[in-house]
Amino acid sequence: MSTILQIDSSLFGSQGQSGQLARQFVEKYTQTRTVDKVIYRDLGSEPIPHLTAESFQGFSLPEEERNEHQKSIASLSDRLISELNEADVLVMGLPLYNFTMPSTLKTYFDHIARAGITFRYTEQGPQGLLKGKKAYILAARGGEYQGTPMDTQTALIKHFLGFIGITDVEFIYAEGLAKGGDAREVALGKAAERIDQLVA
Ligand SMILES: Cc1cc2nc3c(=O)[nH]c(=O)nc-3n(C[C@H](O)[C@H](O)[C@H](O)COP(=O)(O)O)c2cc1C
Repeated sequence: MSTILQIDSSLFGSQGQSGQLARQFVEKYTQTRTVDKVIYRDLGSEPIPHLTAESFQGFSLPEEERNEHQKSIASLSDRLISELNEADVLVMGLPLYNFTMPSTLKTYFDHIARAGITFRYTEQGPQGLLKGKKAYILAARGGEYQGTPMDTQTALIKHFLGFIGITDVEFIYAEGLAKGGDAREVALGKAAERIDQLVA
């Protein structure tokens, strides 16, 4: 019995390659595991507003002292965190845009990194407060970077998720999608094989 949270962040919504791979993963996962619920967030089609000083400062105010804008942003952030808390498994469609994550995903991260709620600072350093979750990241890329110093995206995503306590993270790559020839089909075939191995 588990809950999956699928988060896509392609410009093309669920039609993006990363979203299609994430959907493929969820479909196959639900065939081999008991899943009660799938929560879906499409950050490309329904972007979250950028944080501002006003909205960020509202996070640390008591509810009754927040203005209307701060209340609405804090309530959105609370909802996003509650979806994460509910999920046992996080499935993320992750495009590579200009060598990093989509700005919509970065904005989502800005809303879920909340001191005292998803992480805290201790004498031993920062401690992530989300526990017992597994993340699968379906990374779609025009070029090929995996295992090279150019792949800063993998480390960044792992670091961020680890910071909030999600340390069990598996990447599935579809790389070289823009190379032409049969590279796209080969990459998608490899990603599908990896998905099959992981859900078996
Ligand atoms: C705005 C934009 C920027 C991109 N930047 C890169 C890049 O820096 N490196 C790369 O390998 N591919 C890049 N691509 C290609 C995407 O990684 C590729 O199309 C991938 O399928 C994107 O995932 P999506 O289809 O889910 O949106 C870019 C594509 C777009 C639309």
